[in-house]
Amino acid sequence: MTSHPEFGERTPGSEVAKVFADQIRGKTILVTGVSPKSIGASTVLNLASQSPGLLILASRTKSRIQEVADQITTKYPGVRVETVLVDLGSQESIRRAAADVAALTDKLDILINNAGRVVTSRQATQEGIEQQFGTNHIGPFLLTNLLLPLLRKAAETNPPGATRIVNLSSAGHRLSPVRFSDYNLEGKPVPPEEDHVKPLPGAFANCTPDGYKPIVAYAQSKSANILFTISLQRHLANHGIASYAVHPGSIVTELSREQDDELNAEFHKLIKYWKTPDEGSSTTLVAALDPALNEVKGFYLSDCQYTEPSAHAKDAAAADRLWKLSEELVGEKFSIGG
Ligand SMILES: NC(=O)c1ccc[n+]([C@@H]2O[C@H](COP(=O)([O-])OP(=O)(O)OC[C@H]3O[C@@H](n4cnc5c(N)ncnc54)[C@H](OP(=O)(O)O)[C@@H]3O)[C@@H](O)[C@H]2O)c1
Repeated sequence: MTSHPEFGERTPGSEVAKVFADQIRGKTILVTGVSPKSIGASTVLNLASQSPGLLILASRTKSRIQEVADQITTKYPGVRVETVLVDLGSQESIRRAAADVAALTDKLDILINNAGRVVTSRQATQEGIEQQFGTNHIGPFLLTNLLLPLLRKAAETNPPGATRIVNLSSAGHRLSPVRFSDYNLEGKPVPPEEDHVKPLPGAFANCTPDGYKPIVAYAQSKSANILFTISLQRHLANHGIASYAVHPGSIVTELSREQDDELNAEFHKLIKYWKTPDEGSSTTLVAALDPALNEVKGFYLSDCQYTEPSAHAKDAAAADRLWKLSEELVGEKFSIGG
């Protein structure tokens, strides 16, 4: 259980930050995917309210990160805020960003892999990986591993489990496992255990003329976020570092900027409650801050509490397989257990 079983769907992130103020004060925290109106913006503003030592905002559009950094500085002038440019769809950019972070700090207490992307047509990262899998999983995989020395440094002095890596997943993961035999969605045959749920509801089944199913690609990437969390948890627990994945809820942000009206209408039919931006950061903040999480063997949270992901997203063998595939796709091995 979490330390606050009364927290739920409508708990504001600002309240969570207040309750766990001791876990924020003086800490160095990096959040990816920060732009106005995003979950990342609400997350960093709530963190800023409780005097962190250093907040690093890492995202791909300078003007948008700067707008949020300026809001923080206006509201909380005592907080040190730094911005780092990173395109998670470019491994070169990620490697540069990791070096930029290392130039700002020698330790990182909390890493929140929040950035995410939805695309509705076939696109690829700079390395030719399907855009949603590449940006939502492979990019954060590389960034996290490159930042691990800073997290390890923080873990030397933090209480066990207080150094954390939080990965933003989604309830959407339920629609598709990782398609190991066809992770680029090129129409290669996949065994049933790698295939998406059938039938996909309504407009979720839509595909582009070349057969690309955007929702399946997004769902695959969000399953990967949970499997990645399982590997991190397993390998890093003995090193004092904990990792949790979250579904933040449904929040009107710019995530759906590319979606057409038909798909947006489908979402609005399905979703019973749209969280405010403040409520949209609460589950992330519980995952990043609640000391009670370390006492339980959970790894996925929704509405501020532990919940069970789909079977395909908690399979230890799939987590190992994903780790190996991710290493291949970034061209580097990371022996994080050692
Ligand atoms: N909103 C929801 O209902 C919902 C539900 C479930 C899960 N989520 C997850 O929550 C996370 C945050 O999403 P959001 O709703 O806040 O979406 P959002 O408003 O679109 O924010 C996404 C953030 O990620 C950044 N980003 C996108 N592509 C990037 C790249 N290649 N490199 C670096 N940064 C990149 C965006 O930067 P720019 O603004 O500069 O493009 C933006 O700051 C995502 O992981 C998403 O999957 C959201």
